[in-house]
Amino acid sequence: MRIQVGIVGAGPAGLMLAHLLHQHGIESVVVDTRTRDEIEGTIRAGVLEQTSVDLMTATGIGDRVKQQGQVHHGIELRFGGQGHRIDFADLTGGRGVTIYPQHEVLKDLIAKRLADGGDIRFGVSDVRVEGVGGDSPTIRFTEGGTEQVLHPVLVAGCDGSRSTTRFLVPAPKPRQDHFRQYPFAWFGILAEAPPSSDELIYAHHENGFALVSTRSPTVQRLYLQVDPNDTPTDWPDDRIWQELHTRVSGEGARILEGPIFQKSVLHFRSFVCEPMQYGRLFLAGDAAHTVPPTGAKGMNLAIADVYVLSRAMAEYFAGGETGALDAYTATVLPRVWRAQHFSWWMTSMLHRMPEASGFDLNRQRAELDFVTRSRAGRTLLAENYVGTPLD
Ligand code: DHB
Repeated sequence: MRIQVGIVGAGPAGLMLAHLLHQHGIESVVVDTRTRDEIEGTIRAGVLEQTSVDLMTATGIGDRVKQQGQVHHGIELRFGGQGHRIDFADLTGGRGVTIYPQHEVLKDLIAKRLADGGDIRFGVSDVRVEGVGGDSPTIRFTEGGTEQVLHPVLVAGCDGSRSTTRFLVPAPKPRQDHFRQYPFAWFGILAEAPPSSDELIYAHHENGFALVSTRSPTVQRLYLQVDPNDTPTDWPDDRIWQELHTRVSGEGARILEGPIFQKSVLHFRSFVCEPMQYGRLFLAGDAAHTVPPTGAKGMNLAIADVYVLSRAMAEYFAGGETGALDAYTATVLPRVWRAQHFSWWMTSMLHRMPEASGFDLNRQRAELDFVTRSRAGRTLLAENYVGTPLD
């Protein structure tokens, strides 16, 4: 089957790319080894930058995020038993973020793609991409026991942090993998309870980091820093609540408890694959770069990548111009590294290293004290958190 763009992966990057390409009149096929239910049911992060929401709205998938998303104009940093508000609206000229879960974005994208006649192949196996260095790449996969072959003009590798398409960018030179592992993880829960706080709380504590987030007026999302080898069985409900009360304690703090109905462990990595392209292959989202979750940049970066990529592909299909495609990596990398720095900075400032000494804890408190006390410090955090415009 001859097509314009073959997209490997039906996550935020792949589906948003297919959606944006369709707006430019370019048709694609998306393939994914996961079923539609798995994709729509996997719990991930939930913070959208204003520009991500604006792009959804401008391209006809903004209704549910407008109705169900919660706009937040600040967060609280909590340390030494006290909360300190970072007022995004005041510090960034009225900007904010929207709390809306990633899997809801994916439901919106899938529904719109299917309504627009889009081609998404869920639950396929044995996906193999070949020939991206030449003029006629192929994507082969097995669907319902039959082998299928796509002949795309261009290929997008949007297959997430365990990407296989990434390895088609030749190594070791000029490809460079920048990689950092962290000696901790997040234990995330969903609980049936009303929000403990109107805004998200990022709490620094000598026992480790805690994050109070939300999903809806009746569901809370909460995270605790844990050992990366921990599993849900290490964390019975009582231990979770006790640790949350301890880490998010002090003046004005409260944690509302309720039945826990989901538990998972999230691992921390920073990663950038450079360049993000080779021949007719272009990587986007987690396939090209992964950030630790502190600050919730992952989905927003994926959306920013494919915004640039869709326009470059549109230019190419309109008149054969390769300039924007050639410049793809150079165009998106500055935003990728800005998010890498911000996510690493938030992570390092708020988490307890396994070997942390009194020196380390006091250094972190001094940094938090400066960041919350000084307008310059608060602005640094706020500008990065709300994100920068796409153009
Ligand atoms: C959430 C996740 C994050 O990584 C974060 O920084 C804030 C909120 C969330 O899942 O709600």
